[in-house]
Amino acid sequence: MLKESWSLVEEHQDKVAGYFYARMFLSHPDLRDLFPVHMDLQRTRLLNAIVTAVQTMEDPERFDDYLRALGRDHRKFHVVPEHYEVVGGALIEAMRAFAGEQWGVEYDQAWADAYAVIAARMLAGADADQNPPYWYGEVLTHERRSPDIAVFTVLPLQPLEYRAGQYLSIEATRYQPRLWRTYSPANAPRRDNTLEFHVRALGAGWVSSALVRKLRVGDMIKLAAPMGSMTLDRRSTRDAVFVAGGTGLAPVKSLLEELTRYNRTRWVHVFFGARTREDLYDLADLNRLAARYPWLSVVTACSDDPTFPGERGAIADVVARYGPWNEHDFFVSGSGGMVKATLKTLAELQVPSVRVKYDSFGD
Ligand SMILES: Cc1cc2nc3c(=O)[nH]c(=O)nc-3n(C[C@H](O)[C@H](O)[C@H](O)COP(=O)(O)OP(=O)(O)OC[C@H]3O[C@@H](n4cnc5c(N)ncnc54)[C@H](O)[C@@H]3O)c2cc1C
Ligand code: HEM
Repeated sequence: MLKESWSLVEEHQDKVAGYFYARMFLSHPDLRDLFPVHMDLQRTRLLNAIVTAVQTMEDPERFDDYLRALGRDHRKFHVVPEHYEVVGGALIEAMRAFAGEQWGVEYDQAWADAYAVIAARMLAGADADQNPPYWYGEVLTHERRSPDIAVFTVLPLQPLEYRAGQYLSIEATRYQPRLWRTYSPANAPRRDNTLEFHVRALGAGWVSSALVRKLRVGDMIKLAAPMGSMTLDRRSTRDAVFVAGGTGLAPVKSLLEELTRYNRTRWVHVFFGARTREDLYDLADLNRLAARYPWLSVVTACSDDPTFPGERGAIADVVARYGPWNEHDFFVSGSGGMVKATLKTLAELQVPSVRVKYDSFGD
C-alpha cells in the first residue's frame, strides 16, 4: 500500500516537497530555523529521506541500529520529540493533496502506522544517547595540499569518542550554518583528542568548498554523531587490503594508525588512486609509514596522468593486476563511481562480500 500510494504522487515529487514544507512552516514557523537557509538545491532531501525510509523498512527490526543512530543524529538539527508528529502529518497531507481522488483512507493509515514505528525507534535512539547533540571544535591547523584539497585538524572542546574508520558529520558553522555533511577522521582516536580531516572541494559544493577554501585556523566548527561500520575486527588474522580513491584515503589512514598500535602478523596492502599525481595529496606520509612498518606496502595509481611513473589506470583495475585476493579482508572508500567499480572487480575476483567493508562518498 505504501508503494502503491507513493506511485500516485511520485511524478509530482517536487511539488509534493514544496507543499510538505509549506504545510510544516505555516503551522509551525519555528521549524523553519532548523533547516538550511538555501533550500532550493535540497528541497526534496528530507521528504525523500522519509519516503525511502518508510518504504524500504518493511522490517524495522532489521534496521533498528540504523534508525536509532539516525534519531540520535537528528539531535544536531535541534529536532525534539514534538516535531515528529508535525512532520508525519505534513507528509501525509502533502501526498493526499497531490494524489487526487485515488487517495483512500487506508493509505492514510498505512503511512501513519509505518511512520509511527520508524519515529518511535528514532526517538528511542535519541533518548538513550548520553552524548551531547553536537560538539564544538576549534580548527588548529589548515593546509591546502592542492587547489581542491585541504587537510585540517580540529580539537573538540569535549571528548568525542569514535572508532577508527568511522565518519562524523560537520557543520562549517561560520560559513554554512545548518548544513551538515559527513567526513571521516584520518586518524585513530588519540589521547590529545585531535581529529584530522581530508576534504576535497567538489565544484560548487556547499560544505566542502567552505571547508577547503574558507576555513581558517581559530574557526569553530560543529561535529556530530560518529557513525559507520568500516572498522577493524581485531580478531581477524587475515591479511588486509585498503583501496582508497582521493580523499577516500582519510578513513584508510585512520585504520592504518590503529593497526600500527597492535599489528605484528598481518600483511597490509594499500592501493591509493587519483586522477593526477597532484591529487595524491598525502603520498609523503603514506611512504613514511611504509618505510617504518615492514608489514605495510603501498601502490599508487593515476587514471588521467599518462606520464605518471607508478601504476596507471582506474584503481579497481590496478587492484585486479595484483593478488590473488580471496583470503583477504577488504576496505574500500572513495567516490561513488570508484567504490562501485571496485566492488564489481572484487566480485569478479570472487572475493566473498562478507570480507568487504566500504564507505561510498557519493550516491
Ligand atoms: C560516509 C561518508 C564519508 C565521507 N567522508 C569524506 C571525507 O573524508 N572527505 C571528503 O572530501 N568527503 C567525504 N565525504 C563526502 C562529503 O560528505 C560530501 O558529500 C562532499 O564533501 C560534498 O558536499 P558539498 O556540501 O560540498 O556538496 P553538495 O552541496 O552536497 O553538492 C554540490 C554539488 O556537487 C555535486 N556533487 C556532489 N558529489 C559529487 C561528486 N562526487 N563529484 C562531482 N560532483 C558532485 C552535486 O551534484 C551538487 O551539484 C563522505 C561522504 C560519506 C557518505
Ligand atoms: C521518520 C522520521 C524521519 C526520518 C526517517 C528522517 C530521515 C532523515 C535523513 C535520512 C536525513 C538526511 C538527509 C541527507 O542528508 O541527505 C534527514 C535530514 C533532516 N531531517 Fe529528518 N527524518 C525524520 C524526521 C525528522 C523530523 C521530525 C524533523 C524535524 C523537523 C527532521 C529534520 C531534519 C532536518 C532539518 C534535516 C536536514 C535537512 C537538510 O539538510 O536539508 N527530520 N532526515
